[in-house]
Amino acid sequence: MTDRLIAEAGRENTIVINTGDNFFQTGELELEDKKAEVIFKALDRIGIDFVGLGEQEFIFGVPLIGNLTKNSQVHLGCANVKDIRRVSPYLIPYLRLNKGMKQVLITAVIDPQVLKSTDEKIAFTNPVTALKRIKKTISHDIFIVVCHADAVSAEKWLTQISGIDLVILGRQPGISEKKLEINGAIVAFNNDRGQFVSHVDLVPKDGRYAVSGPHNTRLQARTIAEDRSVAKLIEEYEAWSREYHYAKSKNQHLAKAPSDIKNIYVGKDRCMECHEETVVSWAKTVHARALDSLIRKGKEYDPQCLPCHVTGMNDKSHGGGFISLNLTPHMVNVQCEQCHGPGGLHAQDPENVSARLSGKQTCLSCHTKDTDPGFSYQKKQKTGIH
Ligand code: HEC
Ligand code: HEC
Ligand code: HEC
Ligand code: HEC
Repeated sequence: MTDRLIAEAGRENTIVINTGDNFFQTGELELEDKKAEVIFKALDRIGIDFVGLGEQEFIFGVPLIGNLTKNSQVHLGCANVKDIRRVSPYLIPYLRLNKGMKQVLITAVIDPQVLKSTDEKIAFTNPVTALKRIKKTISHDIFIVVCHADAVSAEKWLTQISGIDLVILGRQPGISEKKLEINGAIVAFNNDRGQFVSHVDLVPKDGRYAVSGPHNTRLQARTIAEDRSVAKLIEEYEAWSREYHYAKSKNQHLAKAPSDIKNIYVGKDRCMECHEETVVSWAKTVHARALDSLIRKGKEYDPQCLPCHVTGMNDKSHGGGFISLNLTPHMVNVQCEQCHGPGGLHAQDPENVSARLSGKQTCLSCHTKDTDPGFSYQKKQKTGIH
């Protein structure tokens, strides 16, 4: 999509801006670092000129991310970090590009409230003061600001500064239906989970340049061909991460259940003894094949994918749930106990039935806004359960 926009206007007339929050902490350093490296290479291939740093980058470790920019054309920026060059020599307070004979000044500010930096070298300053200083001291024809704050705070700051042409709200998901302006600046939103690319045109007006837009183009896999070089990066990463998770899963072992755990997961074969009909009809649902989907994607060892495609994983208060394919092969797929809870006690004593479940809430724990945006309990319960 970005390629297409660049091709239409010409590289020399285009600026590509990313609103940050590209990195995520998972608690696994090796994985995080590898992922950051891959994401960064992808940003480079896509042709991003400027990333307005978000809280994810600051939490992740800006010096580390800064180092990734060493050999790339991507610039990482934030205007209201105290002594930004000391944080990392590869970070900048602003970027000025000469595009189509015009000087375009781009900067970013972050709401100091949105994160408490764990790195004491990083201190945030007042965003309004920082923006005013840059605006005054750096000559420009067009001024673009990425604002890492919610719409309310951003508006509070930006009404104090005139002369901004375009504001990008980097922390406001979604797109605005109405055209928004703050103090004369056109406002574009961060796009909603990668669903849109927002773009604006600069058009000559009264001897100056005016921003026209934003236009929000929905990204549809059907209409936009994948970028081969980025796809290749991702394939390489996926192969690497499969090996990584596989190696880790081999080192796992069955923990001895703590003695205070009374109820445990037992697996569907136990339910079969008394609920044969239900098990047979459940076996026809896709829940009974949920692991196959992960295998097809090479993700059957990935702890990010497994919890919704297996039974009883991460349930520390009951034993017997899924740990890994090697150790607990009988706990794969979305089985009875994933919805009804561990059935060890009940299987021994059928009178012992745990509380009836709230069907809808149970479904929504996996059929989330991300995994299944159109989920309707009314419709899906008919065919989806057993
Ligand atoms: C030894 C036989 C037996 C086994 C094994 C067994 N059940 Fe049951 N189950 C029953 C009986 C009998 C009832 C009806 C109990 C009642 O309504 O009082 C029942 C009822 C239920 C109910 C309905 C509860 C309700 O509130 O109406 C659920 C759900 C259930 N079982 C799930 C399971 C699951 C899941 C397993 C496997 C982990 C399992 N059962 C294993 C005998 C068994
Ligand atoms: C543990 C997570 C989990 C829970 C809880 C869960 N599902 Fe699913 N569901 C899945 C997964 C994973 C798939 C996809 C399986 C596949 O294709 O690999 C799926 C697929 C489905 C499908 C088929 C695809 C579709 O959207 O038409 C239906 C229907 C469905 N689930 C209904 C339900 C209903 C109804 C509930 C609640 C009673 C529920 N699910 C609870 C994980 C879950
Ligand atoms: C929060 C729960 C959850 C997590 C985590 C999850 N899934 Fe799923 N997955 C679902 C549900 C629910 C469905 C069924 C939705 C549907 O079919 O519309 C599904 C369906 C699928 C399908 C079959 C439908 C399709 O789109 O082809 C595949 C493949 C899949 N998931 C792969 C993955 C992979 C790979 C991961 C990890 C990156 C993952 N899932 C993580 C809940 C989850
Ligand atoms: C995707 C979630 C889900 C899975 C998987 C699931 N159930 Fe259920 N089950 C439900 C829901 C929802 C109800 C309806 C509960 C209610 O009405 O409160 C239900 C009802 C039941 C009942 C009560 C009688 C009936 O049929 O309505 C029994 C017994 C039962 N399930 C057993 C099982 C067994 C055995 C399995 C495994 C083969 C299983 N369930 C798998 C969600 C699930």
